[in-house]
Amino acid sequence: MLVTTKEMFKKAYDGKYAIGAFNVNNMEIIQGITEAASELKSPVILQVSKGAREYANHTYLVKLVEAAVKLYPDMPIALHLDHGDSFELCKSCIDGGFTSVMIDLSSKSFEENVEGTKKVVEYAHAHGVVVEAELGTLAGIEDDVKVEEGKQSYTDPSVVEEFVSKTNCDSLAIAIGTSHGAYKFKPGTNPKLRFDILEEVSKRIPGFPIVLHGASSVPQEFVDMVNQYGGNMPNAIGVPEDQLRHAAELSVCKINIDSDIRLAMTGNIRKYFAEHPDHFDPRQYLKPARSAVKAMVAHKIKDVLGSANKA
Ligand code: G3H
Ligand code: 13P
Ligand code: ZN
Repeated sequence: MLVTTKEMFKKAYDGKYAIGAFNVNNMEIIQGITEAASELKSPVILQVSKGAREYANHTYLVKLVEAAVKLYPDMPIALHLDHGDSFELCKSCIDGGFTSVMIDLSSKSFEENVEGTKKVVEYAHAHGVVVEAELGTLAGIEDDVKVEEGKQSYTDPSVVEEFVSKTNCDSLAIAIGTSHGAYKFKPGTNPKLRFDILEEVSKRIPGFPIVLHGASSVPQEFVDMVNQYGGNMPNAIGVPEDQLRHAAELSVCKINIDSDIRLAMTGNIRKYFAEHPDHFDPRQYLKPARSAVKAMVAHKIKDVLGSANKA
């Protein structure tokens, strides 16, 4: 059975760790993540963006995730819609087997965000599904929405209490300096998340689970691999892992990771092609890519999230 994130978050908050929410698009990614999580006995969130759903098809993704649930029956696995942008999309995922949805109206006015989130929460709760909402905007690309650098805004802690009580959402994504994608900070600058905002938010809504988007650390080893084997990703920089670890010890219960999966796969596939130019069976190059995802996720669980042995 898929689970919601309710109990996962309660335990994570009290235990000062976070649950990894990994974006999934295909079978190999789902296998890599769930193999690592099950070996380490870690709860996990598999999340599907609107783009992933368009790419792979809702039914394929749900069935692949159900296969993982069947293989690892003792593992708490949640299936979450990442960055839902409309009631219709959220409803379709709620009706179609997801246990958690995000309604992201963070680019709208506060009032529109409250109104739209509330509508999704009412429908979701009536169907046993939990809802993540967002206040503040991250820079970077979220599906079709590109937030220009300089146009992002940190979450205003003075409105979180009103937002949560008016919407009745179950978790809240906030903007404290992370961003989506592989280019989060300028080279030569000192990446620093705004922990003062996080702590101020948590003072106002104690015990409430906070979500960190754009939380890939963009491991240098994968960036180097991409660049060494024909890629071109200069100055790709992520969130330092010690800051993610610190966030997990505070009120952050869900840490979103997508770019690191992309990098692990792409770096390893590039390397494989360079070293085996005569190979053309997708199983040959998807195997090391899948293993790299598994190893990367295992590292996050053990050394960043702190969620090992919490299943
Ligand atoms: O937050 C965005 C995630 O990385 C998903 O990306 O919309 O390209 O699937 P995507
Ligand atoms: P990254 O681009 O840092 O992996 O962020 C992923 C994310 O926030 C998905 O919602
Ligand atoms: Zn995100």
